[in-house]
Amino acid sequence: MASHNKVLFLAFLQLLIALSVAYRSDQCGLKLGFYKRTCPSAEIVIAETTHRFISLTSTLAAPILRMHFHDCWVRGCDGSVLLDSTKKNTAEKAAAPNLRLKGYQVIDAAKSAVEKICPGVVSCADILALVARDAVETIHGPYWDVPTGRRDGRVSLASEALANLLPPFANITRLKLGFASKGLSVKDLVVLSGGHTIGTALCSSFTNRLYNFTGKGDARRRGLLQSDAALLDDPETKAYVELQATTHGSTFAQDFAESMVNMGKIGVLTGKAGEIRKHCAFVN
Ligand code: HEM
Repeated sequence: MASHNKVLFLAFLQLLIALSVAYRSDQCGLKLGFYKRTCPSAEIVIAETTHRFISLTSTLAAPILRMHFHDCWVRGCDGSVLLDSTKKNTAEKAAAPNLRLKGYQVIDAAKSAVEKICPGVVSCADILALVARDAVETIHGPYWDVPTGRRDGRVSLASEALANLLPPFANITRLKLGFASKGLSVKDLVVLSGGHTIGTALCSSFTNRLYNFTGKGDARRRGLLQSDAALLDDPETKAYVELQATTHGSTFAQDFAESMVNMGKIGVLTGKAGEIRKHCAFVN
């Protein structure tokens, strides 16, 4: 009898563990292979389209990665950054921090390729998350599995982009608060700042640091943006930066993959919320 109880108890424990794993993987309503039944080739078609564009113009990978970040930061990863302004509304796209985003044509090409095989099924928010991953992979950066199931938002306001996106001169306190407000950790902050391994920045984002113009020692060795250099002003972020800078044992690629998945879950719309846009630049 005692051993029978033990078997039952173990089975119950296993069930609890299985349920908690299922709950965790589905906490925000996203899951790997969301389109497996409804549009089995979606991810392949998106990857092929991205590969075609990025192989020809590899410099688009950086602004597309940034586009995914800027999408998630404003109203969650709901494709709101992709919407065009209208007569009555100035969209996120038109806000100053988004003016140098590029690569919308890659998103549009992936969307029309997917619409051809499964109309009205795959969201623009998911396409952006997948294209960002595939673009980074094409230029031999880290790879991560993208949980899908995001739906598209209907609202995009330039004022919200301005209010939410962090400026290049943000100090460590502001950066930590900004990430915490999106449910991301200090580790996510330092790891995702590694996104700046690729791409370019306008002089206006960093000229004040070049020659110590302010006389306050703002010029800080190698960090291009003040927000990057600020990662050395906090014991936790500094320890991580220094660990990754050692030649052996860097976990950056794996950590970046994990943090990108975390970022991709911010404020997502799932289930019946939002819509599946027909065209990524316009609400239905
Ligand atoms: C931590 C807060 C962050 C701040 C303050 C910040 C700020 C900036 C600024 C000012 C630029 C230069 C833009 C320009 O001059 O055109 C830039 C570029 C870039 N950012 Fe960030 N960023 C942050 C986080 C991130 C994250 C989390 C990612 C992605 C994981 C990212 C990816 C990029 C990329 C790839 C570029 C280069 C874009 C290009 O070449 O066009 N950034 N960022």
